[in-house]
Amino acid sequence: MKKLNIGIVGLGRLGKEYVKNLTYLVPNAHMIAACSIKKEELEYVKDTYNVPNLYSSYEQMLDQQKDMEAVVIVTSTDQHADQIIKAVEAGYHVFCEKPLALNIEDCIRVEKIVAKHADRITMLGFVRRFDASYADAKTKINQGLVGTPYLLRSQTVDKDTFAPFQIEFCTTGGGIFHDYNVHDIDLAHWYLGSRIEKVWALGGAYRFPEFGLAGDADNTAAMCELQNGTMAIVLASRISSFGHNTCTEIFATEGNLKIGDPPVKNMLQISDKYGIRREGMETFFDRFQAAFLTQIQSFVDHVLEKRQPELTMNNATNATLVATALTKSFKEKKPITIADLIS
Ligand SMILES: NC(=O)c1ccc[n+]([C@@H]2O[C@H](COP(=O)([O-])OP(=O)(O)OC[C@H]3O[C@@H](n4cnc5c(N)ncnc54)[C@H](O)[C@@H]3O)[C@@H](O)[C@H]2O)c1
Repeated sequence: MKKLNIGIVGLGRLGKEYVKNLTYLVPNAHMIAACSIKKEELEYVKDTYNVPNLYSSYEQMLDQQKDMEAVVIVTSTDQHADQIIKAVEAGYHVFCEKPLALNIEDCIRVEKIVAKHADRITMLGFVRRFDASYADAKTKINQGLVGTPYLLRSQTVDKDTFAPFQIEFCTTGGGIFHDYNVHDIDLAHWYLGSRIEKVWALGGAYRFPEFGLAGDADNTAAMCELQNGTMAIVLASRISSFGHNTCTEIFATEGNLKIGDPPVKNMLQISDKYGIRREGMETFFDRFQAAFLTQIQSFVDHVLEKRQPELTMNNATNATLVATALTKSFKEKKPITIADLIS
């Protein structure tokens, strides 16, 4: 079996999961190199997954790892644009975690370079598209099962666990709209078959004032209007008391599709002196672990079969554009028309 030689950059919370998947669970992948600026992360992947070639410099990995064919980028978001460009220009196929970048200028820079090197396979990781239930909803819409969708209500909600790294993430990850809602935005574009053109976002730091001091929020709500007249309502929260609670509802002319609600851990129902209940999930890993594997398997297959993925860089640019508009609307406390951001 032909195996794709892969190097990874970024070995944090999510990067380690990619190394695990690429080492053990993607049969046509060969994990040959890893890069991080943190020594302890390099030691971890060497000891745990036996990754043979380790780098503390991304440029060195691109330059020296001659047998590498593809790069998987799981660094903080502020690094994505430059790292994609460097990899594509150096001749590698690229998978990069969402979002593409934190501003529209960087997205356009990437799009231009990617267009110039169309022989390289490039993929942005919007993991929900690879979740079995989200993918099934798309199939049902395409089949016309519920008629024409006109409203999407979608939320990204994490468990109430404050950690100092989340404040750092407000800077490197662009804040709650770029980090959380970029998923919901992409779903709105995907399911409603159009692009968001106008937004109005509200929010606040209701539970953790630290997010407010960092110019961000722990809870947000936004209304969005799409070019084809459909609507989206997107919510985000960092303070769910019972666990991760990402879910989506699609309202259509002949029915509704609901994904991930209630956000239960499994099929177990507990009946005892406290009543009848089901357990929730701790983190996004619990909810999307299988989808992360399906997604990276899909990237490897696309490279080996020399096919570009369905989701384009332009789709990723559009998601960042809307996340930027939501952030501006929240900060300036007024509705924003997307066209005004790019004119
Ligand atoms: N799809 C999802 O649901 C999902 C979930 C979590 C994170 N993410 C995305 O994944 C990315 C990483 O998130 P995380 O939670 O793993 O972050 P993290 O902070 O835990 O890890 C970031 C990693 O990048 C490395 N790094 C940063 N700059 C570098 C550089 N210049 N060269 C080499 N290594 C560098 C750090 O050392 C660290 O290993 C983010 O873009 C985030 O948006 C997506």
